[in-house]
Amino acid sequence: MKRKGGDRTSELLRAANKSRKHSYAPYSNHRVGAAVLTASGKIYSSGNVENCCYALTICAERGALYHAVAVGEHHFKALAVTNGSGEFVVPCGVCRQVIWELAGDIPIMMFNRSGRTRTVPLSVLYPLAYKKKSKRRLMKHRMKKST
Ligand code: THU
Repeated sequence: MKRKGGDRTSELLRAANKSRKHSYAPYSNHRVGAAVLTASGKIYSSGNVENCCYALTICAERGALYHAVAVGEHHFKALAVTNGSGEFVVPCGVCRQVIWELAGDIPIMMFNRSGRTRTVPLSVLYPLAYKKKSKRRLMKHRMKKST
């Protein structure tokens, strides 16, 4: 079967696992790691970063995407996420909205402790997404940003 992250799958999983170890989760003790693969072939990752003002917490998925966008990446191929348990962690609703805005309908690869992966397109996790601009206009904006 063709892996959704191409032959970069194991690198994505490694990066997400590594970032999970850097997560800051003293309130929930739920340590999550995520990594995104860009069209240019780079991988950016993050763990979740919590705050005592709980609403300020940034999930690992958003951390990874914001990390990439902050250094000029605007085209993404896949996102991997894990919480290092036997279960598959599924991106929260807020992250689904952010992934939709910044990356569009990319494969979301959820993997567990033993490296088993479940991959679904974002549009399956987040159908009928809220959007203000058409996909064509968002793409145009991303193209402008990367030149
Ligand atoms: N969390 C993530 O980082 N990603 C998810 O997909 C689910 C939840 C974080 C947010 C918070 O720091 C902790 O897990 C408990 O919800």
